[in-house]
Amino acid sequence: MTTYEAMLARRTIRRFTQQPIDPEILKKAVNVARLAPVGVNAQSLKFVVVTTPALVEGVFDLTKWGAHLKDGSGTPKKPDELPTAWIVIAHDTKIKENPMREDLGAAAENIIIYAQSEGISSCWLQNIKRDEIAAVLELPENLQILACIALGYAAMESREAPIPPSGETPYYWGADGVLEVPKRTLEDVMIER
Ligand SMILES: Cc1cc2nc3c(=O)[nH]c(=O)nc-3n(C[C@H](O)[C@H](O)[C@H](O)COP(=O)(O)O)c2cc1C
Repeated sequence: MTTYEAMLARRTIRRFTQQPIDPEILKKAVNVARLAPVGVNAQSLKFVVVTTPALVEGVFDLTKWGAHLKDGSGTPKKPDELPTAWIVIAHDTKIKENPMREDLGAAAENIIIYAQSEGISSCWLQNIKRDEIAAVLELPENLQILACIALGYAAMESREAPIPPSGETPYYWGADGVLEVPKRTLEDVMIER
């Protein structure tokens, strides 16, 4: 799979099988996060790899999924649909006072696209209880959680859908049980001069 193909294939996944992820893949995901572009090369981010089942569930309990699916169908059901790993991205205040959000974005996307290239799906979550997750993971005070990346093998499908005439973009379940995610077209977003 090329990088372009991995980027095309990636959609947020909200239900996972319980097949574990090879720890070497998780290590490589952190390695590519480490090498992502960073403002002034400060490198204040740390990456907490969580695979211990009780801790995976502990983090999950402090996250909110699928805001547009009001019936709760965007939240994995315990225990069979949980992600099998988290990479929790934290900012180290010992290195720099304030995080640069762009650094988080670059690192998170590197993790997600690399995972996709290995056939592993993800959900990037920032509707999360940061302080409580830090407590569950027993992180020191200098590590401030910014985002949680859920990882696992997909137990559902999701695909790009057209934007409806209303112009609204909430995702929804299609009649065939595939999650439809409205996306603006290339023509909508690309400006050539
Ligand atoms: C910064 C950011 C924060 C997000 N936070 C959440 C979240 O807290 N919970 C959730 O279920 N999805 C979250 N998502 C996933 C988005 O809902 C998802 O990317 C969006 O619906 C587009 O779908 P796609 O990723 O399949 O293209 C987040 C994505 C980003 C980039």
